[in-house]
Amino acid sequence: MTAYSTTAKRATTAIPAPTAPLALAPRLRPAGRALKVSQRSQLPPFLALDVLRTASELQAAGQDIVHLEIGQPSTSAPQQVNDALVASLSATATHGYTLAFGVPVLRERIARHYSDWYGVTPETDRIAVTVGSSTAFAIAFMAAFDEGDRIAIPTPGYPAYRNLMMGLGLTPVAVRAGAEQNWKLNLAEMDSWDELPDGLMIASPSNPTGVVMDDSELAEICRWCDARGVRLISDEIYHGLTFGVRCDSALNYTKNAIIVNSLSKYFSMTGWRIGWMILPEDLISSSEKIAQNLFISAPTPNQIAAVSAFDCEAELDSHVSRYAVNRDILLSGLAPEFTGNSAPCRGAFYLYADISAVSENSAEFAKQLLLSEGVATTPGIDFDPDQGHRYLRLSFAGSQQDMSEAVIRINRFVSGR
Ligand SMILES: Cc1ncc(COP(=O)(O)O)c(C=O)c1O
Repeated sequence: MTAYSTTAKRATTAIPAPTAPLALAPRLRPAGRALKVSQRSQLPPFLALDVLRTASELQAAGQDIVHLEIGQPSTSAPQQVNDALVASLSATATHGYTLAFGVPVLRERIARHYSDWYGVTPETDRIAVTVGSSTAFAIAFMAAFDEGDRIAIPTPGYPAYRNLMMGLGLTPVAVRAGAEQNWKLNLAEMDSWDELPDGLMIASPSNPTGVVMDDSELAEICRWCDARGVRLISDEIYHGLTFGVRCDSALNYTKNAIIVNSLSKYFSMTGWRIGWMILPEDLISSSEKIAQNLFISAPTPNQIAAVSAFDCEAELDSHVSRYAVNRDILLSGLAPEFTGNSAPCRGAFYLYADISAVSENSAEFAKQLLLSEGVATTPGIDFDPDQGHRYLRLSFAGSQQDMSEAVIRINRFVSGR
């Protein structure tokens, strides 16, 4: 076992400082030579968004579409947050940039949120406000890893981790965490690899499966990473969206992990683009510089109004109750061919249904379901290139009426096959 080390594992090549005034002569490309397009940007499409595009086109053409493809709440931000946004516009200077890591009042409120929810209070200087959690991943990957580093990702998993890593020249490595693994991350599998990964990316509750890790499992993962010098990144964006269970944060068990979260899911504020990270000490300075260069700062009015989001639990918990009812409508109403082998969903707002009893090609199945019944879903291959052809992700973030309608249409489609 290697001890945890904060030193870089590979030497990086420094960019030489400019020595002379930049050359003024233009470097013309010879005629006929193709303009450069990077290889590493040739990423696979995010199929959920392709489905959304087709569904929206059908809807614009007058078709009645039930949306089960989108992973976002159908509700708006809490009223108190909307009011705070309006008030902030006249009360505070909101027109300018903030510090890259955000306004102090929000960073302090996030620290208090950890104390309230998890009983652990991170130092405020470890908290970085980001433009959604999506830019937090970019910062985390750039701050922690060098080109070629290998990062393990439990699969099925959220495709943007893998795609963004590839775009940054990192190497995502799948660790199976599907039905055969009882939907759990098998640490022994990584121990058996020739080379340990440099990093491990986890998410609980999971997108697309809704599977929630037990706290003991999370604690074990944190210990495993610390003992082996594997940098852990914990995506906790679906915290709060759980049914009958609660989740600890990786922060409860280690100071070496990068914690990522956002206001998009439980807080019902996807479009506000406010996320955050809790950084380990050794990544604070580099992450700040990356944030400065990547986005300068998160939207200022939204940061100020977002402080109120943490005081709206009654309203937000009512959404969670609705999701729980939605989940039950799908689980009890859908044909057993769908629900029988779906992942045990205890969180997020997704049902990851094993449709192999009716189709071995989830992309084609999703397309036909959309065209013939107007139900938009996401094929599993978005989340699992290997086994995803047998799975379909159904988002139950919509209304109860939508869920009931989806059950009727999906069952009709399945029985007609
Ligand atoms: C697991 C997971 N992480 C992160 C994100 C990105 O969220 P945002 O950038 O809105 O915070 C999503 C969005 O669907 C997600 O499902």
